Amino acid sequence: MKINPYQPDQSGMAYSVGTTLDRFIKFKQSDFPFASGELSQLLRDIALAAKIVNRETNRAGLANIGGAFGQTNVQGEEQQKLDVIANIRFMRALSKGGEVCAIVSEEEDAVIDLKNKSGKYVVAIDPLDGSSNIDVNISIGTIFSIYRRKTPLGSPIQMEDIMQPGSEQVAAGYVLYGSSTMLVYTTGFGVNGFTYETSLGEFFLSHPQIKAPKSGKIYSINEGLELDWQEGIKNYIDECKAKRYAARYIGSLVADFHRNLLKGGIYLYPATKNNPNGKLRLLYEANALAFIAEQAGAKATDGKSRILDIVPDSLHQRTPLLIGSEEMVDQAIKHIEKSKISATV
Ligand code: F6P
Repeated sequence: MKINPYQPDQSGMAYSVGTTLDRFIKFKQSDFPFASGELSQLLRDIALAAKIVNRETNRAGLANIGGAFGQTNVQGEEQQKLDVIANIRFMRALSKGGEVCAIVSEEEDAVIDLKNKSGKYVVAIDPLDGSSNIDVNISIGTIFSIYRRKTPLGSPIQMEDIMQPGSEQVAAGYVLYGSSTMLVYTTGFGVNGFTYETSLGEFFLSHPQIKAPKSGKIYSINEGLELDWQEGIKNYIDECKAKRYAARYIGSLVADFHRNLLKGGIYLYPATKNNPNGKLRLLYEANALAFIAEQAGAKATDGKSRILDIVPDSLHQRTPLLIGSEEMVDQAIKHIEKSKISATV
C-alpha cells in the first residue's frame, strides 16, 4: 500500500501526532490585528516554564524538593519548596523572554519591574497553586494573566499598568499538573486545551474550543467553613444537596475549576466571617479563571459583581469567587440577593 504523507493515514502505521501548541499559537497569531508575535512568544515562554515545572513536580518525591521551604509568603501562607522553585522557573522564563516589562507573583511581595524598555506585557502569575497538595500527590496548577501595559513603551512602569481590571486581559491560562499535564488558555477567541505528551516533550491540542455546560450537578466548596458562610451561600448549598448534586472539592483551585468547566459545576470560595473578602487572589487567581470561564460560556462573580469588572486597589487583593456553569452561578446569586432582602425587611 502506498501511503500519502499529506493525507490522513488510513493504514494505522503512521497516525498524525496532532497539532502542537507552538503551531497552534503561530496559526492563531493572525487573530490579533497588528500582532508582532510577542504575545505568541510570551505564551511559548510560559509553556516552556510549565514543562520544567512539570518535570520538577513529577520527581518531587525523589529529589528532596517536597515539603515546606521554611518561610511564609506575603499572604502569611507557608511556602513549599516547589512554590519557590516554580516561581524561579516562571520568573526566569518571563524575564529572559524579553516581551514582559513587569510581573506580579503570588510569591513576591512587590511588583517585579524588569526594567525592560521593549516589554509590552504585564504578567500576573500564581506559579504553583494548591501547593499544599504536592506532598500527597494531588493535582496542582499554575495560573497566569497577561495584560498589555497602559503607559508608553520605554517609560517607567506605573501602577496603572498593573492595576487593570480583568476585562483588560489579552490572554490568560492555567496549567494543570494532574493525571496528565494540560495547558488551557484563551486570548479572547474561545478556550483551547493542550495535553502534554511527555515522550515528545510537546503540548498537543486535545480540547479544541472548550464549551462549559450551561448547568451541572457538581458543587465544590470547603464545607468545613459552613458555620462562617453568609445565609445566601448556605441556602444555595442546601439546594444543591436537596437536588442530590455531588460534592467534589480537591482544594486545588485549578483542578476543581477544570473539572467543573468540562463536566458542568460550580466552585465557590465565598466570604467568611474571618475573611470577608474570601481567600483567593483577584490578580493572579480569580481574573484568569474568570476570563477563561466567560470565554467558555460559563460565569464568574464575587456574589455582587462580575469578577472581570473589579478594579483592583492592591496587588494581593482577595475576592470571594463563585465560578462555573452559568445557570448554577445565577442560582447562587439569586440566593445571595434573596437572603439580603429578607435580612432588610
Ligand atoms: O489559592 C489557594 C488555594 O490553595 C486554592 O487552590 C484552593 O482552592 C483553596 O486555596 C483551598 O483553600 P481551603 O483549604 O481553605 O479550602
